[in-house]
Amino acid sequence: MNLVPMADILNDANQRGYAVGGFNINNLEFLQGIINAAEELNSPLILQASEGAISYMGIEYVMAMVEAAVSDTHIPVALHLDHGSSFEKTMLCIRKGFSSVMIDASKKSFSENVEITKKVVEAAHAVGVTVEAELGKVGGTEDDVTVDEKDATMTKPAEAVEFVEKTGVDALAIAIGTAHGVYKGDPELDFARLETIKSKLDMPIVLHGASGVSAKDLAKAVKLGINKVNVNTDFQQVFTAKIRELFKADADLYDPRKYCGPGRDAITEKVKEKIMILGSNDKA
Ligand code: G3H
Ligand code: ZN
Repeated sequence: MNLVPMADILNDANQRGYAVGGFNINNLEFLQGIINAAEELNSPLILQASEGAISYMGIEYVMAMVEAAVSDTHIPVALHLDHGSSFEKTMLCIRKGFSSVMIDASKKSFSENVEITKKVVEAAHAVGVTVEAELGKVGGTEDDVTVDEKDATMTKPAEAVEFVEKTGVDALAIAIGTAHGVYKGDPELDFARLETIKSKLDMPIVLHGASGVSAKDLAKAVKLGINKVNVNTDFQQVFTAKIRELFKADADLYDPRKYCGPGRDAITEKVKEKIMILGSNDKA
């Protein structure tokens, strides 16, 4: 398949000081809505699927749909497993053709996280696949993964350095105050922590839970060294809001193309907004 390793996309972003969206796909409309936006703005793209989304769509459908989407695209696209929960799940995705995987052992102890991440890195790198890992715990809920607010912990800069040295990971997701899902209040990002981590690690740094973070804060995070920004909930919300609006206007609506199509276009508009904030437009 015509995919590029995520490291190729992120290393350029790190060198040139911008960020690329790690945009989650949940069905065909998400995939089309996202790639249409990236193509229009000439932006590199990281399509990502969580384990929940993969089991919803079926991995063979994910591969076939992504293959169709990238077959004649002019932009670099990576396909990434979001929040891989085990060595086995990451290997399955690599075998099916993903060009990048995340191993998320952030809930485990530091040494267990190092051990499992290192194992995934060794296997993935042997076949040219990129690896993202997480250190610190991002709060909130994504699919069936929940981290209570009280259990969320910020990434410690010294540990981040040790983690990268010991694992050889390509991209590091850090916890600096964002959370997955819908925020109760306004998120407060620890920019000083990000700055310190980036000054010690000249490598792609990843921000999870970016939905609901203001454009101003996202742009500042990118300026201070974030190179991959994960967004899912914002797209789910605009897709569903558009469908709700259409049903409200016409309760007899029954043709899915008449509401999923506009839902897909609403995703495209939201993705374009994010791309402009992250500065990945015209970087393809
Ligand atoms: O890994 C995916 C993201 O961190 C998405 O988070 O749904 O809060 O945008 P979000
Ligand atoms: Zn995430």
